[in-house]
Formats: sequence, structure tokens, C-alpha cells
Amino acid sequence: MGVNQKQVRVGLIGYKFMGKAHSHAYRDVSFYFDTKAKPVLQAICGRNEEGVKEAAAKMGWQSYETDWRKLIARDDIDLIDIVTPNNSHAEIAIAAAEAGKHVFCEKPLAMTLKQSQRMLEAVEKNGVVHMINHNYRFAPAVQWAKKLIESGRLGRIYHIRATYLQDWIMDPGFPLVWRLSKEVCGSGALGDLAAHSIDLARFLVGEFKEVSGIMETFIKERPIVEDSSGLSGKGSSEHKGSVEVDDASVFLARFENGAIGTFEATRFAGGNRNGNRFEINGEKGSVRWDMENMNNLDVYFHDDEEGNQGFRTINCTEEIHPYAGAYWPAAHIIGYEHTLTNLMVELMDGIDKGYSPLPNFVDGVRNQAILEAVQESALTKQWVSLADVLEKAKTSVKS
Ligand SMILES: NC(=O)c1ccc[n+]([C@@H]2O[C@H](COP(=O)([O-])OP(=O)(O)OC[C@H]3O[C@@H](n4cnc5c(N)ncnc54)[C@H](O)[C@@H]3O)[C@@H](O)[C@H]2O)c1
Repeated sequence: MGVNQKQVRVGLIGYKFMGKAHSHAYRDVSFYFDTKAKPVLQAICGRNEEGVKEAAAKMGWQSYETDWRKLIARDDIDLIDIVTPNNSHAEIAIAAAEAGKHVFCEKPLAMTLKQSQRMLEAVEKNGVVHMINHNYRFAPAVQWAKKLIESGRLGRIYHIRATYLQDWIMDPGFPLVWRLSKEVCGSGALGDLAAHSIDLARFLVGEFKEVSGIMETFIKERPIVEDSSGLSGKGSSEHKGSVEVDDASVFLARFENGAIGTFEATRFAGGNRNGNRFEINGEKGSVRWDMENMNNLDVYFHDDEEGNQGFRTINCTEEIHPYAGAYWPAAHIIGYEHTLTNLMVELMDGIDKGYSPLPNFVDGVRNQAILEAVQESALTKQWVSLADVLEKAKTSVKS
């Protein structure tokens, strides 16, 4: 422990896909960055004792629990990190806040807008630090896009074109994992994938005004799942269950600042494994980014000299690019896990100084409102305004 470095004793709930990603970020953040607060991998929690014990040993956690309530009750835990499926986020986050623990939660924040609002109220009432894991904001190339937009290099923003394309459930024999169960995840590609695009759009372009969407489920029945982790699963071919969430969601959006956007989230875009991409066009230039090539940002400026105009690729690995200087010399690239490490720098700063860094539960609630508006629009075949959705849910969140 460095001199004057505050210890943040973490209790992590869930130990598979995101459990591994968050564990890695806690281990690495104070290795690469000079944080005032340093995470201590105090305890990890999962329901299967053998599994969680093995995960604790492998990922470097000092102890484990099999019941999240016991973890929250421990007085040697400062921060509760929730990396369980979506239907458990609210109950755990509210209990953690009421116990006076800081809360870091995976996206989407909740199952519904109302539930997300209750989570926000709980963290605010109890005065704890809160954050949501929209990690893609923290790719240095995305941060650079933000700087270009904020400094006016693109001028007025006209368009965002965002896609999040995957293909891991195209096989009709792929089982009904929790990501395909409405009662566990709330929605399918929408809450899982478009939630990230919505966050990037709010971060880079601004607040949404209204949306118009369609949602589709191509494969309506799948084998019941036997075992699953992250994006993989095993199922029995004999018994089938119905799929009640969207395989694909597509929507149009108007922003409060006059920009317009198109969004497409699908798990049926063959050949696209994690195609989280956006292009933003402004009056003076454009930027485009692709998670599968995440160190790079393509930029185009209208004031480049005639004859030499066109998109050029910036490898965002120089000292000047946010977070990049903490790692390697220029062009010695970083990866997916570093987006979480970079976010952790902000979370540790928030806990050290006593504020909730962005994106926090306010962003989680606004994101949830947009997800809900798209669902309502798909159902009613009408445009749905965010103001109406927030008014209906009587939100206390200010825009
Ligand atoms: N930010 C991102 O890039 C990103 C990527 C993947 C998943 N996620 C989000 O992370 C969350 C978890 O997804 P995942 O892919 O890690 O799922 P996963 O299936 O790989 O792991 C879920 C974990 O939660 C545990 N769990 C479930 N219910 C529990 C309970 N009641 N008590 C204790 N542990 C419990 C499981 O045992 C497992 O360890 C979801 O909300 C998902 O949307 C975010």
C-alpha cells in the first residue's frame, strides 16, 4: 500500500464473465495509475461454494461468501460491486446503499425505469458513492472523440449512427440462457447491447428527446439451458422454452440539441462478434469508432486541404490521449479489459473525494428511460418522448 493511500475493501457479487473483468480492473488500477484510493480484493460472492472458492483463489480474492446478504452485512467491506444478472441488481444495490456501502453496478441498471429510480433514491438518501459500468466510454479513442466534440472541432452535431452487432445466438439450437429470459434480463439485445450505444450517444451527442423503434424475435423457441456463463451455454435438445425478449432492436432518435440518430442492436448479424460501432457527423467533421479495433479513431475534418481530404486513422495510444499514457509507449496497444481499469480510476477518485463519478445511477436511470421508451414505441408503433416516459414514472432525475 502506497503512502497515504486509502484502502477500499471491495465485495464483488458474481464471478463469471464480468466477475473476471472487474477483478482484473481492481488488481490493475493502482498498478498503472497513481490512485489516492486503492482497491483491496476483500471478498467475492457466488451461490455455488465450490465455484466461488475456486474463483476467489484464481482471481486473488481474500475470502468468499455464498450469500450476498452476508457479504453486505460484513463491516470489513466498503464497496459492493454487482455483476449478477439484471433481475438482482435493484435488490442488492438498495440493500448495499442502506448498509452504507458504496455501489458499483453493471448495466443495464435495472429491469424497469421505476426500479432504477428506486436504486437512485437509495444511493442518494444514504449518501454513498455510485457508478454504473458503461466501460466503453473509457476507451482512450472514445475519450478523444469526446474531446474533439467538446472543443468544437466537429461543430454542430447532425448525426450519430450507432450499431452494436453480435452473432452468438444465431444457431436455433443455442439454449435459453438468462440473457434470453425476460424475467431475468428485462429485454434482449436492447438492454444488453443498445444500452451501451445509448450511453455512448448521451456521452458524445447529448440527451435524447424522442425515439421510434421496432423489436424482433427471430427464433421463438429454444432448448432449456443446463449451464451458462457470459455468452456461452449448454442446453438439452428435448425440452424447449419460449424466447420472450428481442433478438434485434432498431430505433430512430431525435436529440434535444437537434441531432438525429439511428441505432441497431442485434445478436443476428453473422460475422460480427462484438461490433460496437458509431459514426458521428458534424458541420466541420466526422469521427468513427469500432470496438473491434478500439485503439483507433477515424477522423475527418472539412478544413483539411483540398485534394487531401478524407478519413484518417488516429491510433489513440499517445501520452495526450486520456488514460493511454499510463500504459505503454505509443502504438503498444491496449484491450477490452483496460476500459474497465480506466473507469476504476474514476471510481477510486470518487470514493477518495466523496462524489459519484460519471456515469453514475443518474445516467443509469436516463438510460433505462430510453430503453423503456423504445419498448413502448415498438408496442404502440408511435414515437415516444423521453419527457413523457419520465413524467409517467414521476422521476426526480433532472435533465
Ligand atoms: N459492461 C459490459 O461490457 C458487460 C459485459 C457483459 C455483461 N455485463 C453485465 O454484467 C452482468 C453479469 O453478466 P455476465 O456476463 O457476467 O453473467 P454471467 O452469467 O457470466 O455471470 C453471472 C454471475 O452472477 C452470479 N449470480 C447470479 N445470481 C446470483 C445471486 N443471487 N447471488 C450471487 N451471485 C449470483 C452467477 O453465479 C455468476 O457468477 C449483467 O448485468 C450484464 O448485463 C456487462
